[in-house]
Amino acid sequence: MSWPIIVDSVAALRAQIRTWRQEGQRIAMVPTMGALHDGHISLVRIALEQAERCVVSIFVNPAQFAPTEDLDKYPRQLALDLDRLQEAGAHLAFTPGVPEMYPAGFATKISVGGPAAGLETDFRPAFFDGVATVVAKLFLQAAPDCAVFGEKDYQQLCVVRQLCRDLDLPVEIIGAPTVRDSRGLAMSSRNAYLSEAELEVARKLNAVLRQTSTELASGADETGAMEDAAEALVRAGFRKVDYVAAREAMTLRPWRRDRDGRLLAAAWLGTTRLIDNVEILPAPE
Ligand code: PAF
Repeated sequence: MSWPIIVDSVAALRAQIRTWRQEGQRIAMVPTMGALHDGHISLVRIALEQAERCVVSIFVNPAQFAPTEDLDKYPRQLALDLDRLQEAGAHLAFTPGVPEMYPAGFATKISVGGPAAGLETDFRPAFFDGVATVVAKLFLQAAPDCAVFGEKDYQQLCVVRQLCRDLDLPVEIIGAPTVRDSRGLAMSSRNAYLSEAELEVARKLNAVLRQTSTELASGADETGAMEDAAEALVRAGFRKVDYVAAREAMTLRPWRRDRDGRLLAAAWLGTTRLIDNVEILPAPE
């Protein structure tokens, strides 16, 4: 049999999963929207360490895009993606079309509270409902033992953990470190939209966050540090900063200095919106 197995129907996915289950194999899932880059491949590698079988879904989920967002121009490159998955050793690619995932008459939506409140939701109100709905569907379709999500989308990772806890979905969620280029730029499918000049500016996002995180850990005033970070991003060439915010790492509630923290940001470069985050490091001795 050639690898990866490619299926585009839920029935075929379930048939293959059933076979693997009967053979006693553990299954890990990596949900993606395709346009795979090194960050996704690192998720596949982690999945392969966790389970005998790795299932990767490729589905550009219309439910998580607002009408004004980039659904139509979101990069799609299925043939290349399948080559990369084969090279990485994934076992199955699930590539459903929209009618398979959202057949005519589809009318259900999952809405997550808690870590979904604020940050991305302030700017993309329907985003996490769309993510939660499709992730719940994927987990019910593939019934994986575990699933790997990148920390690059840190709020999404927290939302998916909350979703599984609240709905008793028996899937262990594994967070994977962000993969960056040699100058700190987080891998993202949307980097494909950026010109060389914009890529140079984009690299400053992580640098500003790291600097701000160090300042916070050393006792800097939080409000002032957030304002300084936003100003530094605009000076670096970002058109607009949606947010720079310090939150508790686990719950995404406002950060308290005695708790592990995460510093998250979203900013616009031309018409492209980038997000990134870093941990708030403990104060240096
Ligand atoms: O992170 C993504 O690529 C998407 O939000 C996900 C989790 C695959 C759901 O569509």
